Amino acid sequence: MYLADANTQTLLALVYMSLCKNVIKRNGNTRQRKRIVLICWLYVLGTTMYNIIYADPPWAYRSKGMYQETFPKRKQIRKYQGVNEHYSTMDITKICTLDVEKIAAKNCALFLWVTDSHLPEALRLIKEWGFKYRSIAFIWIKRSSRGKLCANVGAWTMKNAEICLIATKGNMAKNKVANNIYQIIDEERTTHSKKPEEARRRIERIFGGLPKIELFARQKVEGWDAWGNEVESDINLVPKHV
Ligand SMILES: C[S@@+](CC[C@H](N)C(=O)[O-])C[C@H]1O[C@@H](n2cnc3c(N)ncnc32)[C@H](O)[C@@H]1O
Repeated sequence: MYLADANTQTLLALVYMSLCKNVIKRNGNTRQRKRIVLICWLYVLGTTMYNIIYADPPWAYRSKGMYQETFPKRKQIRKYQGVNEHYSTMDITKICTLDVEKIAAKNCALFLWVTDSHLPEALRLIKEWGFKYRSIAFIWIKRSSRGKLCANVGAWTMKNAEICLIATKGNMAKNKVANNIYQIIDEERTTHSKKPEEARRRIERIFGGLPKIELFARQKVEGWDAWGNEVESDINLVPKHV
């Protein structure tokens, strides 16, 4: 857990730093004082930030019942009532105001799931959260349990893939530990909106054991902090004052 007690940790570190400063002012020399102050600041920075932010926002849709889900073989068509059938959604402006900058380390990668209809909003979000768009990290090809391509009727083409963008801030290239991670994830679609576990595994393979958090998470996963309204959150992510 990297940020659960972030505020307390920061407070303690600052109190400790000021105590050390006073003690050294009386007994130590300038060099010692500088070293202690530096260690304290490194502690504060190191324990309150994540290098990996993995987010799957509850994008809001304007039109309801626009899509029909078709299930190959079963020849079943179901009128889609919108994601609100499954969870509450958030307006893009509200998502943008979340204070993600507060939890992002100086060097940080954001992996952001987006439906193709929300691509412009995702690019806006990346900027508002202080990141720079880099690439499409993953393309998830959705399969049925029988291994067939899933297909949702869309306005223009049949939908059977979802993308996860990567954006960065600072210098994340230096933190990469693997260069051989594939973009295509060819995996079964299970429950509504659930993304394949493989995405998390690949992120771990790209960046190793850096501090990471999943935003809008629905489950706790070992090695990852989580935040969302359907999970026991490790942090309190609030809108920044705009
Ligand atoms: C697209 S789903 C995430 C699915 C998840 N990635 C998975 O693989 O199971 C979006 C999640 O954001 C949550 N959510 C909606 N509004 C929220 C809010 N105001 N604060 C936190 N989480 C919210 C939803 O309840 C839902 O669990």
